[in-house]
Amino acid sequence: MSEAATTPRTGSVPEPATSAAPVFSVQNLWKVFGPKCEQVPGDPELTALDPAELRERTGCTAAVRDVSFEVNKGEVFVVMGLSGSGKSTLVRCLTRLIEPTSGSVAIDGEDVLAMDKARLRELRRHRASMVFQHFGLLPHRTVLDNVAYGLEIQGVGKAERRERAAEVVAKVGLEGLEARKPGQLSGGQQQRVGLARALAADPEVLLFDEPFSALDPLIRRDMQEEVVRLHREEGRTMVFITHDLSEALKLGDRIALMRDGRVVQLGTPEEIVGSPADDYVRDFVRDVPREQVITVRSAMRPVDPASSDDERGPAVAPDATVSEAIEAVARTGFPARVMDDGRCLGVVDQEHLLGVVAGVPARGATGEVVK
Ligand SMILES: Nc1ncnc2c1ncn2[C@@H]1O[C@H](COP(=O)(O)OP(=O)(O)OP(=O)(O)O)[C@@H](O)[C@H]1O
Ligand SMILES: [Mg+2]
Repeated sequence: MSEAATTPRTGSVPEPATSAAPVFSVQNLWKVFGPKCEQVPGDPELTALDPAELRERTGCTAAVRDVSFEVNKGEVFVVMGLSGSGKSTLVRCLTRLIEPTSGSVAIDGEDVLAMDKARLRELRRHRASMVFQHFGLLPHRTVLDNVAYGLEIQGVGKAERRERAAEVVAKVGLEGLEARKPGQLSGGQQQRVGLARALAADPEVLLFDEPFSALDPLIRRDMQEEVVRLHREEGRTMVFITHDLSEALKLGDRIALMRDGRVVQLGTPEEIVGSPADDYVRDFVRDVPREQVITVRSAMRPVDPASSDDERGPAVAPDATVSEAIEAVARTGFPARVMDDGRCLGVVDQEHLLGVVAGVPARGATGEVVK
């Protein structure tokens, strides 16, 4: 994506470059910490070193190495990777909470690296709100006032901000708790307050840095469902960091998998699980229940005109998971028909469904993993 050099950098209302412009566009982004860090990205000898060698030679850590991606409007873009792989650094570079060393970052076609202080403040307050792992709530304020806080620093009047805060408090399921202080809430409830505060500003994009990793598993699942619901209802763009694979698969429309500062694979959950880019990714996804991620569209075979069974089975949508199709096939005893807009694209029978579960390609599967 071009830097949209024509986009005004000082106007108060950002004009999207085109309606199809990605929300974030990141090109060849580097973040290097350490002495003379700016020399690293442009030096082919240094960029060829692995992280340990680079540290030894220069004392520098390349936390983000030559990363490029786009976040599209309305998608949940997940950044996943082990601890230290560069996730937090990457996401902080998006709003320059950390200054990138080189490369480019644009939001709606506007160059983030060219923004002055006022414009950056506006970006962080109105356009890209961050939800942190440790909720960062104000302990002496009530739930309602914590949620309204972001609006207060935006200069929204008291009556209006309390009204808007009450709306989002209800939206995240905290109705009735408005007058409590954060210390009187459970961890999950506190995180809901953090989420409500970010939502109150009605940002174009929500950035989450491992927001649920401090929560116990049940509350965590509740919060994940909350995010899925909010996304479904509002279509809000989200960038979500996690080191938890099942969380990534559950929430992500697309996942960028990071290792040592690089993005080693970027794709849909199905692409990552179904066609891992290398041994590292394969190892990462090895224990994923494939039938819960792979869709029937990639598992199906063509209809056999000679088989009357192929005409009789239950209908499933192309993006139904193999696991859902197994249930339909088990219930009826016939191959499931993959139907799209009244057209039968193919069928999935027991052999093909079991092939996915077992990780072996079934005979005649049309099979490469596609969107
Ligand atoms: N201010 C800093 N100075 C030097 N090195 C840093 C700094 N911040 C981060 N790093 C290093 O950059 C690398 C990436 O760190 P980052 O915090 O982005 O990882 P992460 O993927 O978010 O990890 P986690 O899952 O533990 O939060 C790590 O090696 C880290 O030690
Ligand atoms: Mg982190």
